Amino acid sequence: MQVSLLLCVGTLAAAPLTLKKAEPAPSLSPEQKADYAQVIQPLFNAHCVSCHGPKKEKGKLRLDSLEATLKGGKNPTFTLGRPNSSMLLARVFLERGAGDVMPPKAERPLTEKQKEALYSFIEGQPIPADLAKAAKADTQAALAAAKPSARTDSPTGK
Ligand code: HEC
Repeated sequence: MQVSLLLCVGTLAAAPLTLKKAEPAPSLSPEQKADYAQVIQPLFNAHCVSCHGPKKEKGKLRLDSLEATLKGGKNPTFTLGRPNSSMLLARVFLERGAGDVMPPKAERPLTEKQKEALYSFIEGQPIPADLAKAAKADTQAALAAAKPSARTDSPTGK
């Protein structure tokens, strides 16, 4: 009796599984694409692309375009709408002392606002305007504090 019940459950469970495979990946809304371009890509450019871009591809991961970011590296980065199973978010939210934290310990850390903006984007929601503004300001501050050679916003070249 018990065995046949289990078999029955097994057959039922198999049907939704096949359906799930056929589902297309969730696509980004125009608002999410704008958020990526205005908030997330500048953040990656300032904090990640030196190691995850055209010059270096640490972990086989590039974060210098939306396409590359969604593609992932050795491991998937995230699935939109599932922030709590995102490997990228997990590493960004680690304690600064942790060996796996991103950016690595010696680098300038992300601020709380930058991390929240990243979380909000990966949640699959438009980033709230005040949060987007704060995260952008923090990215600008990180760029301003970076080596003069890394700056692109100074007309004097300083
Ligand atoms: C100074 C270099 C450096 C910077 C800057 C850096 N990373 Fe990394 N990252 C690495 C190295 C090295 C690895 C590969 C070894 C590992 O997985 O720890 C890695 C691996 C990763 C991985 C795992 C890739 C995979 O598929 O296994 C993720 C995700 C990641 N980094 C995200 C980031 C993010 C997000 C930033 C910016 C906020 C960032 N990293 C900035 C050096 C860097």
